[in-house]
Amino acid sequence: MPFPLGGNQMSWTTNLWILPVSLLVAAVAALIAALVPYVWASRRPKSFPPGPKPLPIIGNLNLIPPSKAFTLFHEWTKQYGPIIGLKFGPANVVVLNHWKDVQELLEKRGHIYSSRPANYIANELICKNETHILFAPYGDGWKVLRRAAQGLFTPASLASVLPIQEAEATQTLYDILREPARYYEHIQRYTTAVILASVFGQRGEDFNSPNVQALYDVQNRFTALLEPGAAPPVDGITFLQHIPESLAPWKRRAKEIRRDQRALYFRLLNGTKERMQRGVRTGCFMEKLLDDQAKNGLDEEHTTYLGGILMEAGSDTTSSTLLSFLLALLQNPLALRRAQEDVDRVCGVERSPTMNDLDDLPYIEACMHEILRWRPVAAGGIPHMLTQTDTYKGYIFPAGTIFFANTWAIHHDEDEYDEPAAFNPDRWLGGNKFGTKENISTVLPNEGKQQQQLLQQRKTSYGWGAGRRICSGQKMAEASLKINIAKMVWAFDFAIEGADADARGGRRPDVSVETGYQGGFLVCPKKFPVRIRPRSDKHAAVVRREWEGLRGFYESLAA
Ligand code: HEM
Ligand SMILES: *[C@@H]1O[C@H](CO)[C@@H](O)[C@H](O)[C@H]1NC(C)=O
Ligand SMILES: *[C@@H]1O[C@H](CO)[C@@H](O)[C@H](O)[C@H]1NC(C)=O
Ligand SMILES: *[C@@H]1O[C@H](CO)[C@@H](O)[C@H](O)[C@H]1NC(C)=O
Repeated sequence: MPFPLGGNQMSWTTNLWILPVSLLVAAVAALIAALVPYVWASRRPKSFPPGPKPLPIIGNLNLIPPSKAFTLFHEWTKQYGPIIGLKFGPANVVVLNHWKDVQELLEKRGHIYSSRPANYIANELICKNETHILFAPYGDGWKVLRRAAQGLFTPASLASVLPIQEAEATQTLYDILREPARYYEHIQRYTTAVILASVFGQRGEDFNSPNVQALYDVQNRFTALLEPGAAPPVDGITFLQHIPESLAPWKRRAKEIRRDQRALYFRLLNGTKERMQRGVRTGCFMEKLLDDQAKNGLDEEHTTYLGGILMEAGSDTTSSTLLSFLLALLQNPLALRRAQEDVDRVCGVERSPTMNDLDDLPYIEACMHEILRWRPVAAGGIPHMLTQTDTYKGYIFPAGTIFFANTWAIHHDEDEYDEPAAFNPDRWLGGNKFGTKENISTVLPNEGKQQQQLLQQRKTSYGWGAGRRICSGQKMAEASLKINIAKMVWAFDFAIEGADADARGGRRPDVSVETGYQGGFLVCPKKFPVRIRPRSDKHAAVVRREWEGLRGFYESLAA
């Protein structure tokens, strides 16, 4: 007999059970009551763009993969068209897959399309008080940061960074010559070192230098925590924010990231200050920011973070793009040969390309446009949030709608590009400014006025975003991309490991964005096997000589 239900026992057990059962009932009722608004909010608003049917509470989140959702959205355009309406839980999300809509909304209506979605972990736990320019909502706090940041990107400032970019690219050749197996780290070092030098006046000598390591470490942990699934959906279901820290490992992780991030950024700024106190100046950006702190309206925390965030924003974006370029060369060896012809024509074998050569290197420029098209590093776009209700093409977008400009779809559109999956820099040659199937550089005479205007405003690449939040560092990044592409193809042959002299055989690297690329938020290739050899002894000697010639250049920079 499992339950001896005697009289006394009965009342005893009943008493014992009533409390927990009623507590449970109350808890379930409370949970249901708490969830009702979320069920309601997960429905599609009226006149919303087409998209898959949402489930209660989670909306379409069941369909969204944890990474590379941009390829799925691209697929969906066949079914739903270029403007897709989705529900991420209670949030209204619109994915724009055609450049014209990005141009019309994010760019032209920028005054209302330039905020960022709420991000509790980034904005409330890690970078409190609107210190992170990328995550800050549209408003006065962001404007102060953006205005101050522009100081690094004036024509004069950009020009003063060029020698640093060139010198670091020269070092990168030397590093790769010495240790080709570490090509991946050497390229990662390059981008961080440029920012360390130009922003903080400090040296990032090796990938294993403490500051370079600390940056990638903190950055990787930060982005990992922001990935879907790493933490509960605290921005959609906001009461989850109140989970006590003892039950929320993600809150502890956020705290540790904040601690390590602040330690790094303050340590860097202290280094710059200390050197300034000794009366030594390198002309770096932080010196200007510290001089103008009062004028800019930035306190210590915001000054420090601005420098740190520039390093975050400029490091793995640029390095991932360069790594994608090397991978692309393995897919298309002809492109390598043509790029080499380009630099050989201008530089011969006596010296490697410099910044002064870039205007004379059309194929190198085409390589840059093509890599930004083929593997845009922020392929899914950085979300913009609409701040007031808007209508467009018969749709209604409620205030708070989150917009993604899907760079992947924009630049893999078969109507626009010939064989979009192929890496082919040639598509940009012959004055074809947009690399499109048809040469549409000129405005077609039979188009209406509005359409003509739109065509004139078209961007070469949407990989930098659009509108008021567009990448501040585009010009600086382009210089880094071009000088490294030019120098690397000048100095080395890149080939599939184990291939014969005719580039046949060997282990083909995986160029697929699905399987050959890392899972994280940025589109970055996994480490891939590649055989890197100097093109001749002469080339190798030049690389060594040019590296020797840099002695002294770095002396002013603190180690
Ligand atoms: C290949 C390299 C790079 C790519 C593809 C890239 C791409 C982007 C994209 C897509 C955005 C978001 C734009 C939007 O919301 O519409 C962005 C924002 C930003 N980028 Fe870059 N970026 C690169 C390099 C850099 C560099 C080198 C710096 C600075 C040193 C930089 C600084 C910034 C800043 C400060 C923002 C925040 C803008 C804001 O929210 O107001 N980026 N970048
Ligand atoms: C937040 O930033 C503002 C603007 O720089 C500053 O005045 C304020 O003291 C900061 N608040 C906290 C709590 O640090
Ligand atoms: C930076 O310097 C300040 C004042 O000189 C000091 O209080 C702080 O601990 C230093 N921070 C780091 C990370 O070295
Ligand atoms: C493409 O159009 C541009 C601008 O009109 C022109 O300069 C260029 O020669 C054209 N290229 C080709 C290949 O037709």
